[in-house]
Amino acid sequence: MQERVYEVNGLNLAYTVVGQGPSVLLVHGFALSRRLWAPQVRGLADRYRLVLPDLRGFGSSDAGEAQPTIETYAQDIAALLDVLNIQRIVFCGLSMGGYIAFAFYRLFPQRVQALVLADTRAQADTPEIRQAREEQITLIDREGTTALADVLWPRFLAPENAERDPALVREVRAMIEGASARGAIGALRAMMDRPDSTPLLPQITCPTLIIVGEQDSVTPRADAELMAARIPQAKLKVIAGAGHLSNLERPDDFNQALRAFLAEVVG
Ligand code: MLT
Repeated sequence: MQERVYEVNGLNLAYTVVGQGPSVLLVHGFALSRRLWAPQVRGLADRYRLVLPDLRGFGSSDAGEAQPTIETYAQDIAALLDVLNIQRIVFCGLSMGGYIAFAFYRLFPQRVQALVLADTRAQADTPEIRQAREEQITLIDREGTTALADVLWPRFLAPENAERDPALVREVRAMIEGASARGAIGALRAMMDRPDSTPLLPQITCPTLIIVGEQDSVTPRADAELMAARIPQAKLKVIAGAGHLSNLERPDDFNQALRAFLAEVVG
């Protein structure tokens, strides 16, 4: 996947475009990178033009000095679409990528042709989650993103997938270790301060696919069911045998669900 770079306020942000056809944006989750989508590139680039950004502070993208909000990431994505001359897109976000999808929809509803919300939630952080994020900030400050990787990967993968596939664990760890400390801390603060998106759900008028790993313990099935109940045109796909990173843990099932949805909404 050939890396390209665009600039936002002096920051170099990395991305890849692969394939031809209707444009589909794939936005990775917290502390990961566009490498998260390798199985979707293999499974979908024959039919779709996939746009894969590294969010600021992750993968090969600069973190910058300023504290981002969740809207900052959405604005970075809008700037990328402008560079690529893409007016409307299917926006697929996993976890934090889904939080950014809600922010993007609030800012630019006319640019969203369809939504895919994978392993994510609409609600804001609870006090317990905020506390856990404060602890992660302290950990990253002291020990960097390698220590963060130790904490996160067991939460991200269903235990049997981690046991069966050590290469999967290594890949998830490598993505997290590749994040900059500043980028990870900035994203934790942005997630802590993000608004509750549940009031937005009934106003989402585009076709929407919600995907969740059956064993997702970070953004569990109940969160997916809430979104499916409140978004007027939503469909829900539960992926058996997957945890929080359903696209990596069960790529064939994930790709099949995504392909079927894309065939319906963009051909
Ligand atoms: C993610 O996968 O993006 C994060 O785990 C989401 C979160 O911590 O809320």
